[in-house]
Amino acid sequence: MQVDLSSTWRIGPVEIPSRIVLAPMAGVSVQAFRRQGRRFGAGLVCSEMVSCAGLEHRNERTLGYLRIASDEHPLAVQIFGSNPATMAEAARMVEDAGADLVDINFGCPVKKVTKTGAGATLLEEPGRATAIVGAVADAVSVPVTVKMRRGLENGSRTCLDLGPRLVAAGAASLTLHPRSAKQMYMGEADHSLTAELAELVDVPVVASGDITSRAHARAVLVRTGAEAVMVGRAAQGNPWAIREIAGEPGGEPSREEVVAELVLFIRETVRELGERRATSFLKKFYGWYLGRGRFPRQFKQELTQLERIGEVEERLFAAAPRAAFLLTRLEQDYAPAAEVELDLPISIYGGG
Ligand SMILES: Cc1cc2nc3c(=O)[nH]c(=O)nc-3n(C[C@H](O)[C@H](O)[C@H](O)COP(=O)(O)O)c2cc1C
Repeated sequence: MQVDLSSTWRIGPVEIPSRIVLAPMAGVSVQAFRRQGRRFGAGLVCSEMVSCAGLEHRNERTLGYLRIASDEHPLAVQIFGSNPATMAEAARMVEDAGADLVDINFGCPVKKVTKTGAGATLLEEPGRATAIVGAVADAVSVPVTVKMRRGLENGSRTCLDLGPRLVAAGAASLTLHPRSAKQMYMGEADHSLTAELAELVDVPVVASGDITSRAHARAVLVRTGAEAVMVGRAAQGNPWAIREIAGEPGGEPSREEVVAELVLFIRETVRELGERRATSFLKKFYGWYLGRGRFPRQFKQELTQLERIGEVEERLFAAAPRAAFLLTRLEQDYAPAAEVELDLPISIYGGG
């Protein structure tokens, strides 16, 4: 069987133009990352996980995660928490902010989250997990989706028991990252579980974990019956991976293309977070963009030592002078998109 990665699919009424979903990644999935993902061929993009408690308390930084640009759609905003009523209220805010889908996080393995009863812990609490999905589905009119891991312990098959119950409670799609919470990112994602889950439920299943190439993406779709693949780490500083998976021409980027894309990303991120926050946020991206043998290791390290974004840009252009021309073209084609206006304090728009 052949799978066309550029074909349309749906989650409820939401039409998604390709089978590639850009993964939600905390500390990565800012608006600039999501817009770039859409431009390179992702059919659906996701915010990083947003704390429902932060939304409840109108925490400025948390509210900032709800800024959505007009060219991001379709877009899911992911929320996490353990209280059904608070999650329902957070979901209403997410819908009001303009998200096409509300995604619920039942996969985060990080202690800071699990110790509050949220994230992957909910895999072992089916009563609470279904209550959350039910409350959120009742609260909003957009489809509600869930992203989960296989279970807490290695070898766990909890997702197969819980998945159908989440669908019965109102989930319109399930994304499975078939590693245990204990595994974090060790070992391989076991997509035989994704196949079993897709057999059990009659909503679209999305396969997340270790999708790094078009060949692998197609193999996973064929093997599992999933509707789409999710791409996470492979797309960090590497939107060209999405282009390759989508089957678009272009191949490996030149040094100039890499620098032009990175500088565009830097400028967009500064616009979004403000220069002070963006300066530290961006450091990990230098390694991601300039790695993969594209630039010497020492050059990446030098960039992370610089305190001003202007200096980073200067060094990048010195290393790839023709990138300035490419950047001008990119900026012309890719003007900042209008943001969805939120009824929030003005300071948020300055980066919070
Ligand atoms: C830095 C980082 C942050 C992540 N943050 C989230 C998150 O906020 N919500 C979530 O559901 N998954 C999160 N994940 C998991 C990814 O969405 C994805 O399921 C996982 O990385 C496996 O896919 P990959 O092999 O394509 O990276 C995160 C992963 C990474 C590496």
